[in-house]
Amino acid sequence: MSPEQIQKLVAEIEQKDLSTAAHTWRVVLYTRALLESFNVDREWIALATQAAALHDIGKIDIPDRILQKPGRLTDEEFEIIKLHPVTGFARMITLKVSEEPIHNVVRFHHERWDGLGYPFQIKGEEIPIGARLFSVIDSFDAMTSVRPYRNDIGDNAAQRAIVELQAGIGTRYWAEGVEAFTELFHTGQLDYILHYFNDDVPIPSFYTAREEEFDAIRNHYKSK
Ligand SMILES: [Fe+2]
Repeated sequence: MSPEQIQKLVAEIEQKDLSTAAHTWRVVLYTRALLESFNVDREWIALATQAAALHDIGKIDIPDRILQKPGRLTDEEFEIIKLHPVTGFARMITLKVSEEPIHNVVRFHHERWDGLGYPFQIKGEEIPIGARLFSVIDSFDAMTSVRPYRNDIGDNAAQRAIVELQAGIGTRYWAEGVEAFTELFHTGQLDYILHYFNDDVPIPSFYTAREEEFDAIRNHYKSK
């Protein structure tokens, strides 16, 4: 996909649900950090970060009254939310996006290792690796950031989120993905991303960023 096409789609997602702007920014950076730890080559990392930026593209098709509902969702509303990997994949096809790693993350980021995820309920190694890794990242970010339905995040949110990820090995998550992410966390390599913990921080434009710009951002926050 072209950077311009991604930029346009990400802007659409952000317009739809304001709280996702910082979320998108953080998950892209976590994805880069995690794949770098697996020594994935730069071309694949570039593709994976596009996938990360677009993972919730299907939410464009979910009504605002459900997406932005402050209270608890009804079962029926949650069933509608659970369709977003399908509507997202449909959009990818309509837009003639052909990169399989992007399809995989959009379609399968809510599947679980034990097969109890949604919407396809595939399990274990049936789930493409990119989607397995991304579900760890997406869950971590959900547990460490402010969402409409939870605004009581405390200082130890990241530490608690790591404990939750570890507890979910074998049920929700792929062990190797969680272990790699935990290692990054404990060695301080995610600190500069956690800076974006609070959705109020202004978001730089990065969807079209080149390698050196990512490096500059990382070095900037590392030096603080
Ligand atoms: Fe999602």
